[in-house]
Amino acid sequence: MIRLPLSGVRHALAVASGKGGVGKTTVTVNLALALQKLGARVGIFDADVYGPNVPLMLGVHQRQDSQGWVPIVRPKDAPAYIRPLERFGLKVMSVGLLVSENQVINPQASAAGQVVVQTLRDMLWGELDYLLIDLPPSAGQPQEDLLQQVPMAGVIIVTTPQDLSLLDSSRSLQLFHRAGVPVLGLVENMSYFICPNCGEEHEIFQHSDRWRPKALEDVPVLGRIPLAPGISQGINQANPLMHDHPDSPQARIFLDIAAAVREQIE
Ligand SMILES: Nc1ncnc2c1ncn2[C@@H]1O[C@H](COP(=O)(O)OP(=O)(O)O)[C@@H](O)[C@H]1O
Ligand SMILES: [Mg+2]
Repeated sequence: MIRLPLSGVRHALAVASGKGGVGKTTVTVNLALALQKLGARVGIFDADVYGPNVPLMLGVHQRQDSQGWVPIVRPKDAPAYIRPLERFGLKVMSVGLLVSENQVINPQASAAGQVVVQTLRDMLWGELDYLLIDLPPSAGQPQEDLLQQVPMAGVIIVTTPQDLSLLDSSRSLQLFHRAGVPVLGLVENMSYFICPNCGEEHEIFQHSDRWRPKALEDVPVLGRIPLAPGISQGINQANPLMHDHPDSPQARIFLDIAAAVREQIE
């Protein structure tokens, strides 16, 4: 299988999880902003056909203009290119923007993977240092097609403490292994809770590295993110923490994760 690089993209990075709802998109959006703060040119491609919520979290929506739903550039006698939307200086595209807002491509369709890969390829990203790809959770055809057909510099796995042990049995790890895509590290989300009254850190979920899957034994933890209202409130209103409160202690955590990612890559 020949993997054609994405034009203009220096490093494509996948953000993956064993299951949904662990904060994969929240981490993707804040990590993208953190990498940007470190001086990188960053894009996000939302490939999560099961729940493409990057548009919601960034407040980007379709534009219906004479060119169609998505801004499309058609150079003379050349294939069509899709121009990404822009938000907070990030280049953004989502499979959720392909069709109307309440009708997404059927993830069960056998061609779903090819639609995702082809859309990613048709994008006019410009020059990017990092393209973060928000993968659907677990393993499936879109993930498989993406990993086999797009060269990726690595994958970042988002987990919560209680689903860490389940990652071993999830097929997604095998998928990355088979595709030869290195796991750059783990981001442990909703890792602990900081009590607003006493300021103390509480481990809400039974937390143990003993449960860390064998396949991830040598993988570094890039960061641990607390369960915090500030993280969900902003993100669900298209105001990500990294943009709204870039100097908060929580933003510091995302900046440290970004620095760790950059170090792994460079
Ligand atoms: N660290 C956190 N603290 C509080 N809420 C969080 C945190 N991470 C994610 N959430 C919330 O949990 C929900 C699921 O997060 P999301 O990023 O959509 O997960 P996924 O992309 O893995 O399905 C969202 O409502 C989000 O705001
Ligand atoms: Mg998501």
